[in-house]
Amino acid sequence: MSEVVTYNREGSVGVITVSYPPVNALSHEVRSGLVAALEQGQKDSDAQVLLLVCEGRTFIAGADIREFGKPMQEPGLAAVVNQYESSDKPIVAAIHGTALGGGLETALGCDYRVALSSARVGLPEVKLGLLPGAGGTQRLPRLTGSKKALEMITTGEFVSADDALAAGIIDSVDQGGDIRAIGLAFADRVAKEQRGPRRVRDLDDRIAAEKGSQIFDEFRAALKKKSPNLFAPFKCVDAVEAATQLPFEQGLKRERELFSECMDSPQRAGLVHAFFAEREASKVPGLSRETPVRDVSSVGIIGAGTMGGGIAMNFANAGIAVFLLEQKQEALDKGLAVIRRNYESTAKKGRISQDDVEERMALIRPTLSYDDFADVDLVIEAVFEDMGVKKQIFGQLDAVCKPGAILASNTSTLDIDEIASATKRPEDVVGMHFFSPANVMKLLENVRGSKTSDEVKATVMSLAKRIGKVGVMVGNCYGFVGNRMLHRRGAEATALVNEGATPQQVDKVLTGLGFPMGQFAMSDLAGIDVGYRIRQERRKAGESIPPNWMDKLAEEGRLGQKTQAGVYKYEEGSRKPVPDPAVDAMIEEFRQEQGIAPRSISDDEILERCMYVMINEGAKILEEGIANRALDIDVVWIYGYGFPSYRGGPMFWADQVGLDKILTSIRNFQATVGGDQWQPSALLERLVKEGKSFASLNRT
Ligand code: 3HC
Repeated sequence: MSEVVTYNREGSVGVITVSYPPVNALSHEVRSGLVAALEQGQKDSDAQVLLLVCEGRTFIAGADIREFGKPMQEPGLAAVVNQYESSDKPIVAAIHGTALGGGLETALGCDYRVALSSARVGLPEVKLGLLPGAGGTQRLPRLTGSKKALEMITTGEFVSADDALAAGIIDSVDQGGDIRAIGLAFADRVAKEQRGPRRVRDLDDRIAAEKGSQIFDEFRAALKKKSPNLFAPFKCVDAVEAATQLPFEQGLKRERELFSECMDSPQRAGLVHAFFAEREASKVPGLSRETPVRDVSSVGIIGAGTMGGGIAMNFANAGIAVFLLEQKQEALDKGLAVIRRNYESTAKKGRISQDDVEERMALIRPTLSYDDFADVDLVIEAVFEDMGVKKQIFGQLDAVCKPGAILASNTSTLDIDEIASATKRPEDVVGMHFFSPANVMKLLENVRGSKTSDEVKATVMSLAKRIGKVGVMVGNCYGFVGNRMLHRRGAEATALVNEGATPQQVDKVLTGLGFPMGQFAMSDLAGIDVGYRIRQERRKAGESIPPNWMDKLAEEGRLGQKTQAGVYKYEEGSRKPVPDPAVDAMIEEFRQEQGIAPRSISDDEILERCMYVMINEGAKILEEGIANRALDIDVVWIYGYGFPSYRGGPMFWADQVGLDKILTSIRNFQATVGGDQWQPSALLERLVKEGKSFASLNRT
């Protein structure tokens, strides 16, 4: 008898219960248990109807993703679902929590589906680089028609129980109560009314009418625009189309072939890595899960500019009250107006109601006085990058804030320990680095200082979750994880243009890899003056940073999108970068001044120099313990900089390219290009020598 799937009878209903925490994923044990319990139910002459129900927080949330990439152990899920569908006795699936992927497919193999109104259903396989491979692409369109099925399967988005009811996916929704009792009552009715099996496979009417429909090509065309680099969504369309063209059994066979293609694709491996990396990142090595978390119910934010305003919105969205502080009323009014405009535009798109707008605005209270921070639980400073200013602010916070308040800086590069030294409570000081636009980007890089207490670390990690961010804990150094690597890439990209490449060529190579924008389009978005100011500060501090053509842009007031001219030019009201001959001329002038004879640079060299310089820096970051694991770096880049998740993050990508190949190129660039950025990381050298990967460091 299986321990994770049990069978018992209640009256005329045979109950199959799955209990496999945390999410009842369809591991080998669960699949075998489902088959065994079904056989018991079939043999039980007193059971007229069977009920499938789950214990714990959710119905089955899908195939067990941890089994992907390993040899499949029989029974396969598709066979299990077919067995359920072939049952002589009708089966009712009772859904609470989420019925996802293989979980929904199992429910579709049952004859009736009931759900709590709080439940959600979906086929999110596409987000893992897959398509539903246990009949979902053949059964769902038989219930909903192809359009709804395509929407659900190509986006992977969940739908609410009410929407699922309206779409014909489930048969009955209950407002609340115990899902087992609700399922039993429904199954009892089926028994009393002597309803027989009602197999989804036999419902051919809707899809028969859709054979040869234009809708499939329309979906393909839309996907080509939206996600041309992705593999799985196109296979999803092929599979649903097959449902309209082939008899059920052959359709299942086609689905299986397409599923295998997806399973074998590198994109699937990258996306599954990203899924687990995101969850692992929340578990910080060395920080006990039992560490107490401080209560945070009010927040103070210093600076109502783009960053401070975006940060305030995150907290208001989560129902947390915010004091937003500025030095002048005018700046405060401007900041609040921008926040309101952002909310209004979200409401216009129908994503929140007008009431939500007002509620959230009411949670953000403007202030000109630090005195309002006396009782807040957390303060986040979001002023410009100037150590002197930040230290002065933290000194003031130390004087006004209550004991136990967390004092955080949103600095993107500066030393947290030095900031903390301006207070008498460095254990309460931490970095909380948000990414622009702060109300949209999902990354929160939490930076631990040398004295930050465990309680503060645990609190900021848990806060990340509360405000819908992906938190990663990193160590303190110039630029932390994300910007330290980005600045290396930026310097290399700039040097490539010094030597003969064009900015558009560099950007095209990076977008070709799957980045949403290239290095220079990104500089224009962030502001050319930002990088310029950082370089000047570092030059002042004695670092040897050679002059480059980007300095010229800043000095001539080409500050990026905000001045409609930076590396590119911009039409009024447009964010589309347009190459500008004036910039080509400035680059040429710079080369002449420096005596550089431009050479033709290949796309391969651009890719290797831009990416390998980041990987080398990433390896140094690991070596120094600034990032705990390679997966933390991957998460930072996926959620903070739009690294394509289907490539799994830069360190995962590097493992796929091969660390030996990368090290050989790094040594080559060390000899030809030079500079400390090309000094090979000792860790990288060790891994290559031992034949190991960055992934091997994830196992802590
Ligand atoms: N397999 C294995 N483990 C899973 C899992 C799955 N399908 N889904 C979640 N988990 C694990 C997580 O890794 C996490 O483990 P941890 O505690 O050790 O880190 C734990 O369950 C809880 O997950 P979350 O932290 O994500 O919990 P939430 O409550 O925030 O979310 C969820 C729950 C909505 C179920 C979310 O985990 C989720 O979206 N899971 C993936 C669902 C999915 O993609 N299913 C399709 C799988 S592919 C498939 O079914 C193929 C089939 O067609 C053949």
